[in-house]
Amino acid sequence: MITKQKGTYDIYGETAKKRAYINEILASLCEKYNYGYIETPVFEASELFHRGVGEATDMVQKETYDFKDRGNREITLRPEGTAGVVRWFVENKLYGNMSEPVKVFYNMKMYRYERPQSGRNREFTQWGFECFGSDDVLADAEVISLAYNAYRLLGLDNIVIKLNSLGDTASRNAYREALIAYFKPHIHELCEDCQNRLEKNPLRILDCKVDQESEILKKAPKTVDYLNEESKTRFTKLQELLDLMDINYVIDTNLVRGLDYYNHTVFEVVLDNSYALGGGGRYNGLVETLGGPSVPGVGFAMGYDRTLLAMEEHNIDIPIQNTIDLYLLYVSECEKETAAFIAQDVRLNGFICETDLLSKSLKAQFKSVERLNAKYLIVLNEEEIKKDRITIKDTVTKEEKSMPITDLIDYLDMNSR
Ligand code: HAM
Repeated sequence: MITKQKGTYDIYGETAKKRAYINEILASLCEKYNYGYIETPVFEASELFHRGVGEATDMVQKETYDFKDRGNREITLRPEGTAGVVRWFVENKLYGNMSEPVKVFYNMKMYRYERPQSGRNREFTQWGFECFGSDDVLADAEVISLAYNAYRLLGLDNIVIKLNSLGDTASRNAYREALIAYFKPHIHELCEDCQNRLEKNPLRILDCKVDQESEILKKAPKTVDYLNEESKTRFTKLQELLDLMDINYVIDTNLVRGLDYYNHTVFEVVLDNSYALGGGGRYNGLVETLGGPSVPGVGFAMGYDRTLLAMEEHNIDIPIQNTIDLYLLYVSECEKETAAFIAQDVRLNGFICETDLLSKSLKAQFKSVERLNAKYLIVLNEEEIKKDRITIKDTVTKEEKSMPITDLIDYLDMNSR
């Protein structure tokens, strides 16, 4: 037997229905913020992620799915959405007319070679969005509010936004130097990964999973102490806006995020202090790094699968369609043809309709009516059909009504919606 790959899963049945419901909510919310939908390719040139996400990140070092295609090109399955969206923005020269910000959202599969566990997969979905062209802190607030409102609309009212500022490039560099100087004398007390991170990516030491409880990490210099005046003012303004918007956030000075492209605002969404349900921030240098002019950007991505898991764990009711409108029962060939004709009409008019595809006995068809939770049934009958009539039965009230076939849609319209 061929089985699915580790860290991947099939989406079907109730889960598929739940996801369709969530997709609708999220897409409709994005519309309110005037974001347009985008899909980028699953695979891109490896260089995009090496340059975009950062050579020294765990993601590029350990987690990407890289391969050479038959034309010997270095290809990577996208591990995240931002780099691909920036590539699209630059490739289509959308920076040419920035009279309005460019705002897009996506709902895409991502691929990371991680150790699979609950909420951590190798193939997973992110719902995310990116906003290009505004360096105003109001854009950061708008992105945070879109993320925040999404979780709330899904019923996850208790989420908290963890917020931090890495400052501009100068502040970030000053902080980086301070961290290297601080960690150097203690580095052998930290894990091997952290030892490798010291020169390449010292900020990552701060959110190391292994050394999380170490006093050395707890006493490390804080980002906020290295923000220059401009970055500090910006961070304060952002908090004021979030307060005005009634968004529940806490400052977490250890929050640095795993990807290299961030500056100023970084944030994560958490619930019950468990792993992040989503994360994002500002990335003002990324468009330039990927070959465009200097255009600011800010965005966010929700871990879709983790969010659904959290909704299930919190017993949030996800309305899913578990009934059908009509079941057509038949025995003879003539009745079967009428079933085909009526089913076509009923479905085209927006009702869920089933009929027997397995040559079942009438008794077994009645069982299907129950199993599928049909609201109405019609037992097609040759004698009636000759008179262009049918009898519809309400499966709950048991009420029956005889009518011309041509009245059926009107009847369902009046009684079923
Ligand atoms: P990220 O923090 O790497 O950010 O991923 C965002 C979210 O995706 C995480 O908070 C988590 O919920 C989910 N996630 C990550 N890895 C996995 C996994 N292996 N299995 C299941 N869920 C996972 C980004 O990807 C940035 N591109 C976000 C962003 C958009 N920043 C600006 N714009």
